[in-house]
Amino acid sequence: MKQMKRIGTALAIAPMLLILAACGGGGSGSGAAKPTVTPAATAAETNPAYVKAQEMFETNRCISCHGVNLEGRAGPKTNLQKVGSTFSKEQIANQIKNGGGGMPGYKSKLSDEEVSLLTDWLSSKK
Ligand code: HEC
Repeated sequence: MKQMKRIGTALAIAPMLLILAACGGGGSGSGAAKPTVTPAATAAETNPAYVKAQEMFETNRCISCHGVNLEGRAGPKTNLQKVGSTFSKEQIANQIKNGGGGMPGYKSKLSDEEVSLLTDWLSSKK
């Protein structure tokens, strides 16, 4: 057993499967799957606008696909931890409003102001 290939991929996929199971599962629970949503406002998130944005991110279920720490729960594309360095504000706002690529659009659910709060916060993720 000298050949230690990275098992990172397997580790990355495992939580996804768990989540998919948790989302789809009917009530036949063993009680093990408690949603542990901790409003993880880190030290970097003291800006009140960012705190508000993070709350919206949780209440609008963005976290169900993107994760409470933006780590992404539905594949690498849903990792938003560096979204600010790969997407412009315009692109981010556009994605939130119109969705696409598996993400629903939020145009009818969020006001422009809410979209821009989320956009500002996400584009600070670099
Ligand atoms: C049903 C799952 C789902 C939900 C809920 C969801 N997203 Fe997404 N989101 C995705 C997927 C999948 C992508 C990747 C789309 C692509 O590759 O084109 C994405 C992409 C994005 C992107 C652009 C980054 C990228 O790589 O394309 C942003 C920004 C974003 N989402 C923000 C949000 C916000 C804010 C919310 C809540 C208001 C939200 N998402 C809710 C699935 C979701």
